[in-house]
Amino acid sequence: MVRKKAFVTGGSGFVGANLVRELAAQKWDVTVFHRPGSDLWRLKGLPLKLKQGSFEDPASVEAAMPKGVDAVFHMAAKVSFWRGDDRLMERDNVEATKAMVDAALKRKARRFIHTSTVSVYGFSDKRINEIFPHDGLNSHIGYLRTKAQAEEVVREGVKRGLDAVILNPSNVVGPFKRDSLARSMLSLKPGMTLKAPPGATSFAHSVEVAKAHVAAVKRGKKGENYILAGADADWVEVYSAIPKVVGVEAKVKVFPKILLQVGAQAFQALSLVTRKAPFVTPELVEWLSAKMTYDSRKAVKELGYKVRPLKDMLKDLWESLPQKE
Ligand SMILES: NC(=O)c1ccc[n+]([C@@H]2O[C@H](COP(=O)([O-])OP(=O)(O)OC[C@H]3O[C@@H](n4cnc5c(N)ncnc54)[C@H](OP(=O)(O)O)[C@@H]3O)[C@@H](O)[C@H]2O)c1
Repeated sequence: MVRKKAFVTGGSGFVGANLVRELAAQKWDVTVFHRPGSDLWRLKGLPLKLKQGSFEDPASVEAAMPKGVDAVFHMAAKVSFWRGDDRLMERDNVEATKAMVDAALKRKARRFIHTSTVSVYGFSDKRINEIFPHDGLNSHIGYLRTKAQAEEVVREGVKRGLDAVILNPSNVVGPFKRDSLARSMLSLKPGMTLKAPPGATSFAHSVEVAKAHVAAVKRGKKGENYILAGADADWVEVYSAIPKVVGVEAKVKVFPKILLQVGAQAFQALSLVTRKAPFVTPELVEWLSAKMTYDSRKAVKELGYKVRPLKDMLKDLWESLPQKE
């Protein structure tokens, strides 16, 4: 049997590591495109080809992409809620997507699966679905704006003949995540009090997000968006589930928004001196304090996407952490 060829960007990251494993499990021939200096620890031991290059050098992208590749998965992006990274996000999210779209058109890629985010829809107290306006385009938050602009680049590509599908995951949790949630799990001691942000959102299992990406190659409709979300929870529920998964007794309290805002302003001011990303920013506080829900029914119906309980995601994340490996 001839193996299908996949060209993946962002494979060294959290969601990408789940995607390349799913592709390998489904016997795809996988090429991961990464930049010099990428830490490839998540890809150790996997049967894949590595190609090095830079989105700023479109010729390197084109040269790395196999001609007539069955599917390009463009997942690489700069994820940041610090305005000091806005220029970097224009480069890594918008200009990089332009380089990918151009290369995919030139190399006659059969399908282009673009990883976007639900944040492109901006803030709303209604349950967001795929027909909502992309308010992120006008957002003052660089991540929302540049990811929404990247989608526009993909839609321009569709007009030029690109066979693209756009996937919009919500907050992804699962194996290989290494963020504050993972750190909270690792540092949890009996009797501790965990502090949760005040908002609520929807959570997606990284393995199901990866499966939906692969399913989109066959089943996704050209030029359309698919929201991958599902398990709705507020942050208190998320943090309350952690002690159970880790197996220790601990309490959870909401971190009052006003205190987060004051702290974020102080960290922001400090970052003007240090020029380093603040621990918490006003933009992140705004995002984590919002109460948002998303509708995944289209992806469930058309891509076979599965909504999994939050406790499964947290358990799978916990089991992937270093002390458990
Ligand atoms: N995690 C979530 O909850 C979530 C939710 C919705 C959407 N998403 C989307 O899912 C995708 C992956 O997110 P993630 O959470 O896995 O992020 P991540 O762990 O930070 O991974 C980002 C990936 O993008 C690569 N990348 C960034 N800039 C690059 C550049 N200039 N050149 C080459 N590679 C570059 C990184 O490579 P290096 O290893 O070299 O840094 C890494 O492989 C993103 O498109 C993100 O917007 C994520």
